[in-house]
Order: sequence, then structure tokens, then C-alpha cells
Amino acid sequence: MAAPRIVLGIESSCDETGAGLVRDGRLLGHAVASSMDEHARFGGVVPEIAARAHVHALNPVVRGALDRAGLRLGDIGAVAVTTGPGLSGALQVGLAGAKGLAYALDVPLYGVHHLAGHVAADTLEHGPLPDPCVVLIVSGGHTSLLLVRDLARDPITHLGDTLDDAAGECFDKVARVFGLPYPGGPAVDRAARDGSADAVAFPRPLTGPGDDPYAFSFSGLKTAAARWAERHANGDGALPVADGAAALQEAIADVLTRKAVAACAAHGVNTLVVVGGVAANSRVRALAEERCRAAGITLRVPPLGLCTDNGAMIAAVGDLLVRAGAEPAPLDVSIDPSAPLEYAALHPTATVARAA
Ligand code: KG4
Ligand code: ZN
Repeated sequence: MAAPRIVLGIESSCDETGAGLVRDGRLLGHAVASSMDEHARFGGVVPEIAARAHVHALNPVVRGALDRAGLRLGDIGAVAVTTGPGLSGALQVGLAGAKGLAYALDVPLYGVHHLAGHVAADTLEHGPLPDPCVVLIVSGGHTSLLLVRDLARDPITHLGDTLDDAAGECFDKVARVFGLPYPGGPAVDRAARDGSADAVAFPRPLTGPGDDPYAFSFSGLKTAAARWAERHANGDGALPVADGAAALQEAIADVLTRKAVAACAAHGVNTLVVVGGVAANSRVRALAEERCRAAGITLRVPPLGLCTDNGAMIAAVGDLLVRAGAEPAPLDVSIDPSAPLEYAALHPTATVARAA
């Protein structure tokens, strides 16, 4: 049998430029550069700034990943790249770089769905995913409960998605109203340490008896938090930010973990995987741990550095595709900024291999 290929993964869908190297399910090295500081004064990601930052960061980040892995360009056996979803200009930069490398090195290219990357991130720490498992994806742009089988071969089943804002979006937008810096999630997490989770009774959207058990909605919670802040501003002054942060974080963690554990129970699945930027939240992690333990469910959460966007997770999907024998993408493969999550590979040729 041929030696397993080393897969280079490239991520550039939002404000992080990431490169990672994976062989046979193992992370060999990765590097991430972020343009977050350049967006902070605008209170959110500015697409043009992100795209330009990727242009500058791509080569150094690939070099950084290779250095950390003790490898050379010539050792790369395949290139995987995020082709969607994400910011169009940002995705274009990563794809152009990946095509250039794949062509120059004469190795196959794979287009990867960003969210499948978040799922695969966990395999780099905890090994192959059990089939089936329930995955809760909570990022800045997406919130979904999924039933995942073989990530490289099978379609991904959506048990529920958010009807409006994503969980990370709710953190980011409320943080802004609370006067906390961008990105809001980590800022709320830090502020919440000094607050009391039951200081404010924020709503738990879509948790009533008649509600869809696996769908999410965070815009009402966002509005409730904004109203609470307004009431304080019109009252006697200082906003108790720590209490607001702790109560908001509790409401989000409560809804997310309650629905995820219910999905496991309803589908007879005993492994829950929580991934994406919001999986870095301390209360989400703690409450998921507590509720999974009580329900006899094994909880898997990637280490903090692999929860937020990175190239290692894209390499992890590429490595799974290579080992599953998926067809590579043609060199004229293009980006899909609003790609729905159906398969881990985003290019149609990989679908042909699946059908075979
Ligand atoms: O997965 P990710 O890095 O990028 C997307 O694909 O969106 O997720 C970014 C999101 C942001 O909304 C950020 O505020 C949130 O993850 N986030 C957190 C924490 N760290 C990152 N939210 C809550 N608590 C955290 N500690
Ligand atoms: Zn992401």
C-alpha cells in the first residue's frame, strides 16, 4: 500500500488565514493569521480588508505550517481548500493560492465545505468520528444540529438550523450593545466571569412544548438583551455588563445544549460533537459536559485553537476525502459563497465518486 499522502489545507473564508498539514488523521502542524484587529474599529468584518489581508498572509501561513511540521513544499501530496460558504473575495484568494500550489506541485486539489471542516477539526484531537454522531455547529454565521455518518462519503442530515441569527452573531451583536469589543463572543465570555447568570431572566427561544425541538432562533434573545440595556441607559446609569453577559451566555448555552442532548436521545445516538467558534465558550463547554454526563452521552469538543477558523480542519477533511478515494476537483473549480452543507466535498466530481 502506498504511504498516506500529506494534505495541505487552506482556509480563508472570513478573517482568518489558515494553513494546516494532516496525514492519516494526524495533525502535523498548522498556522493561522488573523485580520481581526483591522476590523475591530468597524465593529465587524469588512470584506475588502479581509480579502487583502489573505493576500498578504497566505504564503507566510503556508510556510509557517510547513516549518512547524518540519516539512517542505515538495512533501505535500494533495491540497484542500475552503470553497464555501464565506466572503466571496476572501474565498477567491484562498482558492487561487490553492490552485497555484496544486498545479505547481502537480498534486490533486479538493474543494471543502467550511462547516464540514469545523466538524472534522475534532478528529484531529479525538480520532475518527463514531457513525452516527450528532454534531452541534455553532459559529459566527451558522447554528445547526446535524446527524453525521461517514463525513467523507455520506450526505449530512440537518436535524435543525437557526431560523434567523446564528449563536455567534447573537454574542457579537449583543456585545456591541453592551459596549464590549469585537469579536463579541470572547468578550462576553470574559465579562461573564464576574456576573451572575440568574441576574436577568432572558428568554429561551423555541423551547416551548409546541416548538420545533431542534430549530434555533436567536434574534428575539438579541432584542431582549438590547431592550434590557436600553432600560438601564434610560434609568439611573451604569449598565451591569457582567450580569448581562452572564445571563446572555447562560440563555444561549442552555438552549444549545438542551436541544443537542434531546437530539441525541431522540436518535439513539450516544456521541455529541460540539464545534465552531462558539464551542470555545466556557459556559457552553461546561453545560454540555454536565448535561451529557447526566444523559450518558459522550461529549467531544475540539481544543480551543481548533474551534475557531483554521487550516488544519480543512486539511482534515481533505485527508478524509483522499483516503475515501474521492475524485479531486478540476482546476477550474469555483467558489460557492452560500453553499448549503450537504456533503463535506463541495465540487461535483466528488459526488460521482460517491454514487459509484
Ligand atoms: O467558527 P468561527 O471562528 O467563524 C465562523 O465560521 O463564523 O466562529 C466565530 C464566532 C464569532 O461569532 C465569535 O464571537 C464566536 O465564534 N466565539 C465565541 C467565543 N469565541 C469565539 N462565542 C462565545 N464565546 C467564546 N469564547
Ligand atoms: Zn468557521
